[in-house]
This record gives sequence, C-alpha cells and structure tokens, in this order.
Amino acid sequence: MRNKVTKAIFPVAGLGTRFLPATKSVPKEIMTLVDRPLIQYAIDEARAAGIKEFIFVTSRGKSALEDYFDHAPELETALRKAGKTELLQILKNTNMESGAIAYIRQHKALGLGHAVWCARRLIGDEPFAVILPDDVIAAEQPCLQQMTEAYEETGGAMVAAMDVPRERIGSYGVLDLEDDKGDLVKVRGMVEKPTPDQAPSNLAVIGRYILTPDVLKNLNRMKQGSGNEIQLTDAIADEIAQGRDVYGYRFRGQRFDCGSKAGFLQATVAFGLARDDLREDLLRYLHELVSVEKAAQ
Ligand code: G1P
Repeated sequence: MRNKVTKAIFPVAGLGTRFLPATKSVPKEIMTLVDRPLIQYAIDEARAAGIKEFIFVTSRGKSALEDYFDHAPELETALRKAGKTELLQILKNTNMESGAIAYIRQHKALGLGHAVWCARRLIGDEPFAVILPDDVIAAEQPCLQQMTEAYEETGGAMVAAMDVPRERIGSYGVLDLEDDKGDLVKVRGMVEKPTPDQAPSNLAVIGRYILTPDVLKNLNRMKQGSGNEIQLTDAIADEIAQGRDVYGYRFRGQRFDCGSKAGFLQATVAFGLARDDLREDLLRYLHELVSVEKAAQ
C-alpha cells in the first residue's frame, strides 16, 4: 500500500499586485467568487481528496487569512439566537479542527519552489499535495481527488495538466511527453515558462501537484530558474533526471485562472450560474446584455 496523501501546502505568500488596489488590505485568497473566498474552494477540494493537514505558506499582510479559518464564537451565538441555522451551518463549514492548520512565513519572495521548500519540516518523509488557490477548478469529481486516485496506481510525482493554445503556453510550466495515454502522461522533462517556439508540447502544468520528499531535497539546492526564481517545475524535472517517475494528469473539469482579472470574472459568472438561487436572474441579465451588444454592432 502506498502512503496516503494527507498533507497539503497552500502557497499564499504572493502580493497579488494584479488586483491592486483591492489587495492593498485584502489578501488575494480572501477575494470572493460569489460568496466564498478563493481559499475556501481550495480547502474544500483538499478535504474531498482526504487531506487532513493544511499548511499555508504566507507572508506579511496575510493575517485576514488566519482570522478567516478561526472560529467566530460571537457570530455563531448571534446566528443561533436569531434561529439562522442555515447560515450557522455555512459558517461552521469554514471552521478548521484545532491543530489541522499551520502557517509558515516565506520571508522573501524567491519563487514557488522556495515557498514549498519553506514547509519542508512540516512535511517530513511522506508524499504531499500542493494546491495553488489561484487555479480554481470546477469539476464533478474534485481535481485533487482525481489525482490521488490516479496516484494510487502510479506513485512517483504527479502534476495536473491541461492542453492550452500555443500562444499562451509561455505562461506555464510545460511538459515534455514520453508516453501519452490520454488521462495519464508519462513525462520526460518539464520547462518553466518557455518561449512558444521552445515549448516541448502544448500541455501545461496547472496548480495541483502530488509530490514526494525527494522534490524537497531537490529544492535544497536553491537553483534559480525562470525569472531568477526558485521554480517548483525545475525541482520536479530534477526527479526525472534522477531516474524517478513523473506524471501529468489531464483532469476532467474546467479551470479558471483567478490570478488574472479576466479569469476571475469568468469564474464569477460560471459559479454564479451554477447556483440555483442566482442562475435564473443572472442568465436573464446576460441574455439582455448580449442582445444589447449585438444590436449595437
Ligand atoms: C505557476 C507555476 C507554473 C504553472 C502555473 C499554473 O506559475 O510556476 O509552472 O503552470 O503556476 O497556474 P505562476 O502562474 O505562479 O506564474
């Protein structure tokens, strides 16, 4: 039996400059899709995949995140007194068990690989997941759960993968494919943010990973890569060079890039439409908007 994946790292130290001025005082991960902060989607996905320990790699100015996961006794009492049981349940679903959550500071913005490395002592000697909350994935079966199931068969290291148009491939880690079996891809190399003509394929890394402690060892070398940052992609590629297996997993679901304004807006519309209480009104509004646009053309 393989070791179960029970720990996940959430790198949340980024400044979120693309969302200024909002992120001047609100961490990007607290920004809401409909009525839930981005980070809640990541936590729910992790829980569904069997994660029990949640490790946040944070930075200065992220205390709102810690408050968010704290219990709110006054609020709970007020809701209970008012008989608002549904809201009370919503609130309780955000509570984390004592000791299940840990915060580690990344003192310098040295890259995603460095952020993950900061959590090394909490990981110890077992496989772990990494979830980038900016990548929100709407799926019937949560993406990380799809991956942990596949990982039971493969072992090794695994990254979520998605085919993207060539002109956008330079924004991602890109896989060099050895064997493409559809869902599962055996990888023979990985490059972080290549120029489109140098990209080995159109298959991009999306922010879900299942990694081994060996990857953390590779990060010990603090090798600078793309953008002079310590890249997680490079530490995973080193695994292949050292003769260990790395897989890409084409997940089933729709990914939204909530690190960009356009992606965030699209996700807001999609998640709004998925809600029974909002769908009808939102759809009517969108139809009206489109017909006015068309008439103006
Ligand atoms: C990070 C990773 C990159 C991956 C991407 C997915 O890049 O470094 O390999 O493809 O997330 O969202 P970032 O978007 O933080 O620049």
